[in-house]
Amino acid sequence: MDYEMNDFMSTLMSRISIRKYKPEQIPDEILAQILYSASFSPNAGNRQSTQMVICQNEQINDKLGRLKRSLSSIKVSSPGNYISTDQPSIADDPNIPSAFYDAPTVITLFAPKNFWFKAADCYIMANNICLAAYSMGIGSCIVGCVENIFDTEPGKAILQEWNIRENYEAVTHITLGYPATDFPPQKPRKYPEPIVIR
Ligand SMILES: Cc1cc2nc3c(=O)[nH]c(=O)nc-3n(C[C@H](O)[C@H](O)[C@H](O)COP(=O)(O)O)c2cc1C
Repeated sequence: MDYEMNDFMSTLMSRISIRKYKPEQIPDEILAQILYSASFSPNAGNRQSTQMVICQNEQINDKLGRLKRSLSSIKVSSPGNYISTDQPSIADDPNIPSAFYDAPTVITLFAPKNFWFKAADCYIMANNICLAAYSMGIGSCIVGCVENIFDTEPGKAILQEWNIRENYEAVTHITLGYPATDFPPQKPRKYPEPIVIR
């Protein structure tokens, strides 16, 4: 790029998923800013129906992360096709015990089951959360729900404990915490080759 990037653009282009965390919890003031900024996310029909659950309970995060790991249908990445060598995912390294990577904070986004745009709303919000976190030095990783831990018996018990409405389902998780090391350099990106019509 031969022009100067503004701060927001450089935040957009340097955020990277973090899967190795320090055990230290993120400060409440920072969490509050992340959550407040998430409420400004674009959302279909301005329904603002996404329910965030912030879990900072180490035992619950560990239990759910291991459960999610055990349910994962993707067991190992194909050789040479790693998601990240610096921040390996559970698909890259079969020895990682938790799909939440021992992050001290795990956010789960729930949305109404029969809502057409539940996935769009939740993933847009997840991205806002990751960018806001990164802008304040906090690492994050979106951990999508394919195999839903809350469909299992231990998962259903947690839903009850958390008082989640019956017509709501989990769409995605976001792990948050201080990165164990410096933020790694960006992965190589494919330059988009758009079809431009003028
Ligand atoms: C919809 C979605 C689901 C994802 N699910 C997972 C996941 O289950 N586990 C994981 O470690 N990373 C997950 N990721 C993170 C991606 O692996 C990551 O964004 C991608 O490799 C690009 O790397 P970067 O975020 O570091 O730029 C997910 C990302 C998205 C957008």
